[in-house]
Amino acid sequence: MSKYVFRVCLVTLLGLGGFQHVRELELPAFTGLWLPEERCRTSLRAGPTPYTPDEYWTRRAREEGVPARAYYKLEELDRRLSLFRPGHKVLDLGCWPGSWTLYAARKIGAKGRVLGIDLKEVDFPLPKNAQTRVEDARHFRGANVPMLDVIISDMAPKTIGQRGADQGRSTELVETVLSIADFKLKEGGKMVAKHFEGAETMELKHRMRSRFEKCRIIKTQASRTQSFELYLCCIGKKPSNLQAPATWQAPRRSRRTQRPAPQSFNGW
Ligand SMILES: C[S@@+](CC[C@H](N)C(=O)[O-])C[C@H]1O[C@@H](n2cnc3c(N)ncnc32)[C@H](O)[C@@H]1O
Repeated sequence: MSKYVFRVCLVTLLGLGGFQHVRELELPAFTGLWLPEERCRTSLRAGPTPYTPDEYWTRRAREEGVPARAYYKLEELDRRLSLFRPGHKVLDLGCWPGSWTLYAARKIGAKGRVLGIDLKEVDFPLPKNAQTRVEDARHFRGANVPMLDVIISDMAPKTIGQRGADQGRSTELVETVLSIADFKLKEGGKMVAKHFEGAETMELKHRMRSRFEKCRIIKTQASRTQSFELYLCCIGKKPSNLQAPATWQAPRRSRRTQRPAPQSFNGW
């Protein structure tokens, strides 16, 4: 009983926002003794304190020399889902400024390979087993890219401030990831895709369930407090996937605009 009362008091105090410094501590380490991870995160995200750029995760990224706080989102997803193994081949969609590529490259070791693609060029120095290139994921054709063990996508559309429209464009990007997974992900492979939470989230999850053994929705602690982002995480691609195309189709290009396939990642 007393333990329960203590939990209620802790959640109330944090929710009131009076303990700004407490919000910046590494939450699982601090509160893990008292609250389950999921409830702890939810309680804290509900606090009224607005985002300040100098918050914990941003500062930690700067201090540890990683490109962005997004690094810790993938770290959490990996901790909870065991995404990477040494030697894995990984595709990172929407990789700029390079945190996820860096994290994956470190986890898969010298024999693994990670290819990151983004609309913007990554200039962060990455390990030798990682390479990035400028490319629109919607036009990804996978020429010279072998079958992959893991596909991760942190792609986000440029938001215009209209939640419905932003969600719709986020859904299109998840469909792109699904489509790439259909033809480039190995049987048993894993996939993670960011989505802006909305009415279509559950429908996407449902579609993923037909392609993968397990699907989960995870909100990471390093996400901004007011963010609607979540991650659709799928484990164990089913063999039948290979015959189940996504509804999304790459837009047709005329011959004139067709560019040659990007150079292969040397050493795949
Ligand atoms: C939140 S950032 C990714 C952060 C990155 N995961 C990291 O760890 O540093 C989202 C990225 O998605 C990229 N993006 C959005 N649409 C894309 C598309 N169609 N193809 C490739 N990248 C895209 C944006 O350019 C942006 O850099």
